[in-house]
Amino acid sequence: MLLQDRVEVKKVVVWEAFDVTDPMTRAAANLYEKTLTPDERIPWMWIEQSVQERPKSKPRPGGWSRHLLLAAPEGKQDDPESLAGYVYGALLPGYGGYLCYVGVADWARRMGVGSRLYDQFFKVLRVDAGELGEALPFVIWESHRPDESATASDWDNWTARTRLFDRVGGLWIEGVDFLSPNFAFDDEEEAPPVPLQLFVKPMDLPESAFTSDRLREVVGGLHERVYQNEPGSRMFDGTLPPGCDPRLRAARTAGAKKSERVI
Ligand SMILES: CC(C)(COP(=O)(O)OP(=O)(O)OC[C@H]1O[C@@H](n2cnc3c(N)ncnc32)[C@H](O)[C@@H]1OP(=O)(O)O)[C@@H](O)C(=O)NCCC(=O)NCCS
Repeated sequence: MLLQDRVEVKKVVVWEAFDVTDPMTRAAANLYEKTLTPDERIPWMWIEQSVQERPKSKPRPGGWSRHLLLAAPEGKQDDPESLAGYVYGALLPGYGGYLCYVGVADWARRMGVGSRLYDQFFKVLRVDAGELGEALPFVIWESHRPDESATASDWDNWTARTRLFDRVGGLWIEGVDFLSPNFAFDDEEEAPPVPLQLFVKPMDLPESAFTSDRLREVVGGLHERVYQNEPGSRMFDGTLPPGCDPRLRAARTAGAKKSERVI
């Protein structure tokens, strides 16, 4: 396909992957590994397993209801080279939605694909929560902010991320560095934790309900539900030290380099 054809794309279709052998799912694996650094991602095999189990699994209390959604231009849904992007995440019943990963192919960027994937993911989680008769209070996601020494291109990507988060109604949880395991190391205990920024999209709860106390619960809940870190563990306590006072701010305010941030 010519680049020229691609930039003329008018309509993007989003659908759910159910088959790990489908070349489109394989293309998503390549995009995933290309767009995220090793310390930001879990092995693709784990995602593949959840795709494989998906047709047999239904949302159930205590379990995770995982989804991998793919995007391509209309009429190109069978052409792996035309995969425009993917999003992967889950409903965690009794907690909220958790968006784990999103990526858009270079040629498809700034065309609204990332926003489309988020919106579709929110809809899918609403349906899941509805099946359980639960509300969906929020959807949360993490993102690794580059450090001061990062390249201009890393910072550009961070700007792209936070603008995307803004566009989809995500708010930054200011005041929290969420300490997560570094999957690039074999021994998690030895590896320095990766500090992540957290973003929340209020769904059935209004923004005003996310007080500092509620945000601490949301952040602690992410540790317990996703990383199996309980209060008292190094990562949990390092994320929520005494006096930690999280608050919601516009996602774009997380986008500035530390030295440029307006306090
Ligand atoms: C971040 C990413 C998913 C954005 O996807 P996208 O499809 O280009 O995003 P959209 O076209 O929906 O754009 C959403 C908003 O971000 C802005 N944006 C996107 N790329 C941008 C860039 N490089 N610089 C500045 N703004 C950018 C868009 O203008 C739009 O804002 P607007 O509505 O105010 O104009 C994509 O750049 C990507 O895949 N990056 C690599 C992987 C990654 O970082 N994933 C996120 C992990 S948390």
